[in-house]
Amino acid sequence: MQYQALVAYERENGVFEQVVTELNSDNLPAGEVLIKVEYSSLNYKDALSATGNKGVTRKYPFTPGIDAAGYIAESHSSRFKEGDQVLVTGYDLGMNTPGGFGQYIRVPTAWVVPLPLGLSMKHAMIHGTAGYTAALALQRMLVNGMAPDQGPVLVTGATGGVGSISVLLLDHLGYEVSAATLKEEKHDYLRRIGASEIISSAELKDTTDRGLLSGRWAHAIDTVGGDILSTVVRSTKPFGNVAVLGLANSSLLTMPVFPFIIRGVNMLGVNSAETPYDLRVQLWKNLATFWKPEIPEELVTEVSLGELKPYIEKILKGKVTGRVVVKTGEG
Ligand SMILES: NC(=O)c1ccc[n+]([C@@H]2O[C@H](COP(=O)([O-])OP(=O)(O)OC[C@H]3O[C@@H](n4cnc5c(N)ncnc54)[C@H](OP(=O)(O)O)[C@@H]3O)[C@@H](O)[C@H]2O)c1
Repeated sequence: MQYQALVAYERENGVFEQVVTELNSDNLPAGEVLIKVEYSSLNYKDALSATGNKGVTRKYPFTPGIDAAGYIAESHSSRFKEGDQVLVTGYDLGMNTPGGFGQYIRVPTAWVVPLPLGLSMKHAMIHGTAGYTAALALQRMLVNGMAPDQGPVLVTGATGGVGSISVLLLDHLGYEVSAATLKEEKHDYLRRIGASEIISSAELKDTTDRGLLSGRWAHAIDTVGGDILSTVVRSTKPFGNVAVLGLANSSLLTMPVFPFIIRGVNMLGVNSAETPYDLRVQLWKNLATFWKPEIPEELVTEVSLGELKPYIEKILKGKVTGRVVVKTGEG
C-alpha cells in the first residue's frame, strides 16, 4: 500500500529536515497488526525525534509520531480483526518504530488498545500521550492518597500539552488548580480551562539553597523539571505528592532532602511509554467515562501532515498552547 508520511531526513551537513514523502507499507517493520492511521498528535518527544535527537531516534530517515488512532487494516492476531478501531501510544512507536506521522503503522498486538466506547479517534488523539500521561499522574497521586479537600494542586508548564490536560482533568474532578506558566498572555486561557490561580514560572523559581519553603500546594504535577521542580517539591505541604514527568526546563534536579524527611513529601515517577497493559486500558476507559471533561475548542489545533512542520519548531521552544492533533486520514 502506498501512503503519505512526514519523514525526518538527516542531510549531509548534519541538518534534519521534515518532508511529506510517499512510502510503501511493505517496508514497515514486522508486527501482527497493520493500522490505517486516521489521527495522530504532536508531543515534545516527537519534535525531538523529528529534529535528530539520537537519544530518541537512532536511525534516519524516520517517521516520528508516538501516538496513533485508526482502524485495523490487516491482522495476524486473534485479539483484533479488520476494521476494529484502536489506539497506540508509547512503547517504541515513533522512537525507533515508524510512527503516527505516517498513514500506516505496523506494530505488535501488545501495544494496541481498543478505542474505548465514548471516545472518538480524534478525541483519543486530543489526549494522545499528553492526556494519557496526565491521567497516569493522577492515578499515581490518587493511589497515594490525594483528595480534593486537601488544598490546591499545582501544575507547571500549564499551557503545554500535558499541562493543559492536567489542569482540565483536575478541575473536572473537583480539585482547586494553581497553574504555573511562562506565557503571560495565556492567563485567561488557563482560567477558562479550569485554573483558579495563575503563577509566573519565572517568579516561582527559587534558586536559594533553602531546604524548605512555605507550604503552598497540597500536591503538584511537574512537567518541566530543574529548579522549578526543586522549588515545587520544597513548597509542597506535608505528605503531598509531586508527580514528576517532564524536563522541558531541565533534566537535572539538585535539592536538599528535607521535603522528604521532614514533610514526608512523595515524588512519584510517571512513565507513560511503558505502563503495564491492563492499567493502560483502564486509564483510557477512565478518560472515556468519568474522567471525560468537555474539551474547549481553544485547547486544540488540528493540522494535516503538510501543516505540521512549524509546530515541531514551536513545541521545541515551549511556544505551543494545548494540543496539536494531526489528521492523517483523508476522510
Ligand atoms: N514521563 C512521561 O511519560 C512523559 C509523557 C509525555 C511528556 N513528557 C514530558 O513532559 C514534558 C511536557 O511535554 P508536552 O508534550 O506537554 O510538551 P509541551 O506541550 O511543549 O509543554 C511543555 C510546557 O513547558 C513549559 N516550558 C517550556 N520550556 C520551559 C522552560 N525552559 N522553563 C519552564 N517551563 C518551560 C511551557 O509551558 P508554559 O509556557 O505554560 O510554562 C511548555 O508549553 C516534556 O518534557 C515531555 O518530554 C513525559
